[in-house]
Amino acid sequence: MSEQEQQFELAAPDASRWIVLKFGGSSVASADNWQRIAACMRQRQADGHQVLVVHSALKGVSNALQSALQHAVDGESDQAVSAIERQHVQLAEALGIDGAGLIASDLDEVRQLLAGIRLIREVTPRIEARVMALGEMMASRLSYAFLSACELTVAWHDARTLLTSEREIRERRHYLRAVCSAAPDPTLQVRLGAGALHLTQGFIAADQDGDTVLLGRGGSDTSAAYFGAQLQAHRVEVWTDVPGLFSTDPTVVPAARLLKRLHYSEAQEIASAGGQVLHPRSIAPLWQHAIPMYVLCTSRPELPGTVIAEFSGEVEPAVKAIALRPGVTLLSMESVNMWQEIGFLAKVFEVFSQHRVSVGLVSTSESSITVSLDAEEENVDARTLDRLVSTLSALATVKVIRNCAAVSIVGRKIRTILAKLGPSFEVFAEHRLHLVSQAANDLNFTVVVDQAQGYRLVQQLHPAVMRGRIDDDTLGPTWESLQLQPEARTKVAASWWRQAAQPLIEMLGDRDEAFAYDVQTLHERIDGLLGLRNVSAVFYAMKANSHPDLLREVHAKGLGFECVSPGELDRVLTLFPDIAREHILYTPNFCARKDYEHGFALGVHVTLDNLSPLQQWPDTFRNRNVFVRVDPGQGRGHHEHVRTAGVHSKFGVPVFELAQFADAANALSCRVVGVHAHTGSGITNADNWRIVAEALASAAAHFPHVRVLDLGGGLGVPEQPGDAPLDLSALDASLSAVRDAFPAFDIWLEPGRFIVSEAGVLLTRVTQTKGKGDVQYVGVSTGMNSLIRPALYGAYHEIANLSRLDETPDRLATVVGPICETGDKLGTDRWLPECHHGDVMLIANTGAYGESMSSHYNLREPAQGMLFRREG
Ligand code: LLP
Repeated sequence: MSEQEQQFELAAPDASRWIVLKFGGSSVASADNWQRIAACMRQRQADGHQVLVVHSALKGVSNALQSALQHAVDGESDQAVSAIERQHVQLAEALGIDGAGLIASDLDEVRQLLAGIRLIREVTPRIEARVMALGEMMASRLSYAFLSACELTVAWHDARTLLTSEREIRERRHYLRAVCSAAPDPTLQVRLGAGALHLTQGFIAADQDGDTVLLGRGGSDTSAAYFGAQLQAHRVEVWTDVPGLFSTDPTVVPAARLLKRLHYSEAQEIASAGGQVLHPRSIAPLWQHAIPMYVLCTSRPELPGTVIAEFSGEVEPAVKAIALRPGVTLLSMESVNMWQEIGFLAKVFEVFSQHRVSVGLVSTSESSITVSLDAEEENVDARTLDRLVSTLSALATVKVIRNCAAVSIVGRKIRTILAKLGPSFEVFAEHRLHLVSQAANDLNFTVVVDQAQGYRLVQQLHPAVMRGRIDDDTLGPTWESLQLQPEARTKVAASWWRQAAQPLIEMLGDRDEAFAYDVQTLHERIDGLLGLRNVSAVFYAMKANSHPDLLREVHAKGLGFECVSPGELDRVLTLFPDIAREHILYTPNFCARKDYEHGFALGVHVTLDNLSPLQQWPDTFRNRNVFVRVDPGQGRGHHEHVRTAGVHSKFGVPVFELAQFADAANALSCRVVGVHAHTGSGITNADNWRIVAEALASAAAHFPHVRVLDLGGGLGVPEQPGDAPLDLSALDASLSAVRDAFPAFDIWLEPGRFIVSEAGVLLTRVTQTKGKGDVQYVGVSTGMNSLIRPALYGAYHEIANLSRLDETPDRLATVVGPICETGDKLGTDRWLPECHHGDVMLIANTGAYGESMSSHYNLREPAQGMLFRREG
């Protein structure tokens, strides 16, 4: 019996020696993980088990195949297949096997199938399944070769000889979302044959005619479950890149707790409500036979993971998770005829059935009914939706509400706990609810809100429902604390301040609070940007932090400045009176005429982001050179407040207005010499700026004098433990294609956060502590008056007790400031050691938008900044 089995005293079909192991996504994508997988198989074999390994395609390959299919239908050739080939060959090299030889025939088949599709501009579900299946086939050939080279005697099987789907009349479902039997099948063992170790693919099966079918995206978990059920396995282990299922999405709430054990019904509910770890169809086949499922982490095999089983003894109702499902579409139907009309609902649902669209959530009143489209149907094509709406319009007034998110509170006997959750429901007061549904199976309570609100709602609800459950033995450690375990510690240890605790405390002296800006980190970030070969000039967006000493460092490194107000211009010119005026960019927004005139008088680059100033104040712009800020239409960034493009943002000239803008400028002999766009802040996808550059290059077609593409700022930094940093070399590489395509333009960047955020820490002293009900508060000397980001954006900043860095963080606490606002929290539910009056707390990553957004609210002086120079 394994440790987990002993811990939970699971009743599994003991007689079975079979264990099904599923590996997927990034856990099959690295050579290190394959070493671990080999070790895991050896261990299971040594324990006397027979092992069937099921694995999926390498990370990203299914998406790449899907887009290659679409490109082929559009008649475009694309590079996706070569990229897929490269990915496999690189992994094979790392594994020491001959990748190109192993996958040659599969690649050949993909290319031929795509060529055929390109010719006829159409893809049937039957062919789509054949193309998609090749991702799994290629990956399984590599792993087979690798495991054999590790001297494991493994038998390779084509899953289509093992798993047969059931007939389904709808063609798409038949080929792309097939269902197989979960009944025990003694012949499966016979087909697998002798030997202890077997390997096959997930996601694919054959229909009764031998055609390839798929089990739906993410269906490898379901394959493992079918195999487990048919073999009557002892258990199924799903190995992933996360340490198990969590009480909510840990990228939204790092304090999410590991769910150590779940009943099948709860796991089913979490998976269906949007939990991303397990495929919703993977639970039922195992539930039928009470076969336990373990969710484990390939790179951290020592962690306990989540066990999903019968757990019949557990009766205490409790919330297990807050699940979030974005991308939900609602249909709301209003009709006065509904009132007491027999059969009205039947008529409505008949229409859905007629159009073959299935429904997820439903809520009704006397005159209206609102439904969400079923999760798997969410990508119902626009034509089907239009037809559905037009048929429904004969019965009711129909409204389609897109871009919603469903937030579900999941747990057994949820009805009995709703009353206890009363205070948590206060958070709904701030959110517009489109739909409320309490599931008849008593397992979930769901609300649907606007998508942008979904994340915020989860952030507010999670602490409210998890409060006071530190000792709940169904809950494990927080995501955040798991990231701090040995393996992930390298990144955290890299935070400069961990090595500088004592000098920082000394620098604080007898002050209660201060921002400290580490000059070395500042220089490193600037050097990184100066090393970008395809960027000709970098302007520091000084709104991020305009502390004079910091500006001096930036200036000494040769960066220009991006200013947004006369005040910022004046500060730069007071500090550096001799600065060349072309090193200053001026980007005011909805400002007064005199602000533009101030910029022109100083001789700096002036950016216009609206047509009306040209029309209202022609004399101000006559014979001037300007930049124009373009709204490329698509905003990105860490929060809706910082996404600065698209119709909901006030910034930039929309693309459809550029021609008119050009005419108005020409009429005044005003020359547009640069085009500019800033799509948002806190972006870590390196490709963002290439997309912006391409949009700007086409906008420049309106303006013959343009010589600069200013791609704005927005370069993000890691915020939560485990976040990946922005890859500057990938950014540079993606810009090189733009340089090659448009050699006439210079590329400029104007980052703020990237330069200063990680260099800065806020130091503040513990004033008081309080235990109130289940919540422990640690009060500190300054709060939202120095750092408003947590209150304004729900931003996450790591918090440490600098005076006790070597003590184990063994309790959860909420860190609050002295301001008279409930929102004055710097961090909620953080793991900290016991904190005492006078301890110095450190709030990390606060060099950007901390001091510059601080205020004197409550007439409390905010923290003052100072440069910090490390020894050596
Ligand atoms: N350029 C323009 C035109 C901008 O509007 C901004 C930021 C930047 C450059 C610099 O963006 P960065 O590289 O720092 O992301 N207070 C928010 C950020 C607001 C950003 C406003 N504009 C926060 O604390 O996250």
